[in-house]
Amino acid sequence: MTNQELSLPELRTRFLGRPTFHYREVESTQDILRQLAAEGALHGTTVLADHQTQGRGRQGRIWFSLPPPQLYASVLLVPPLPDLKVGVLSIAAGLALAQAMEEHGIADTRVKWPNDVTVNRKKASGILAERVILRGAAPAVLLGFGINITASLDHFPAGLRDRATALSLHARDRIGPDRFRLLGTILADLERFYDEIVRGDPSAVQLGFRKRWLYRDRQIQIRIGNRLFTGVADEIDPDGALLLQCGSGEALRVVSGEILPF
Ligand code: BTN
Repeated sequence: MTNQELSLPELRTRFLGRPTFHYREVESTQDILRQLAAEGALHGTTVLADHQTQGRGRQGRIWFSLPPPQLYASVLLVPPLPDLKVGVLSIAAGLALAQAMEEHGIADTRVKWPNDVTVNRKKASGILAERVILRGAAPAVLLGFGINITASLDHFPAGLRDRATALSLHARDRIGPDRFRLLGTILADLERFYDEIVRGDPSAVQLGFRKRWLYRDRQIQIRIGNRLFTGVADEIDPDGALLLQCGSGEALRVVSGEILPF
């Protein structure tokens, strides 16, 4: 596991990706970044890897790693607001990813609350936001995202083939975007959302969500704890919670839940 500091091409950010450390293979970029954060890494420090051997997903799941090179990244955020909710940062990351993919020639990029980005309605990317407390007690967030850049369908296990995809399968050249350029665009888009959030104005995230929400105007079924709810949810609140209007007339604010295939 060796790393080198990488200059992302045409990086248009003030702090995200400065610096970026690039690894060929790691267990998990989240763990490398956690260690760097403990050693005093700067706000915006980014760890990028082509391959992970123990990638982590939400709720203790494994994040399946395709043959390299893919794009696995973790970004250190040290927000000036101690009570900033990670939910809204996850949605902002999803929107930045979807927007950047589109800027790199991929059509039909959407977000699936709380943490997925889909292309042509299949999952191409997942986001994992973990809170950490730094030395000096500052709360920070390790914002990780994995993007399937290149694959053929038979690279996916049979159970995932209908639900997962890679950008190369949707790119005109069937190669997919250059991952370093794509990361640069993601970081620039994410930085804009982040600046607005910490200024106390998450409205661009809320609007972006309405525009790219996978189930806009459609019914969803969602599991919250061990209960199932059905309804329409076209908005998030400023913290990133999903606002669900149930068929029963009940309105719910969902902080954590799982949308089920309908
Ligand atoms: C999910 O869909 O459950 C979230 C997946 C998050 C995967 C990314 S890849 C980069 C970072 N490192 C990890 O170990 N996980 C996140």
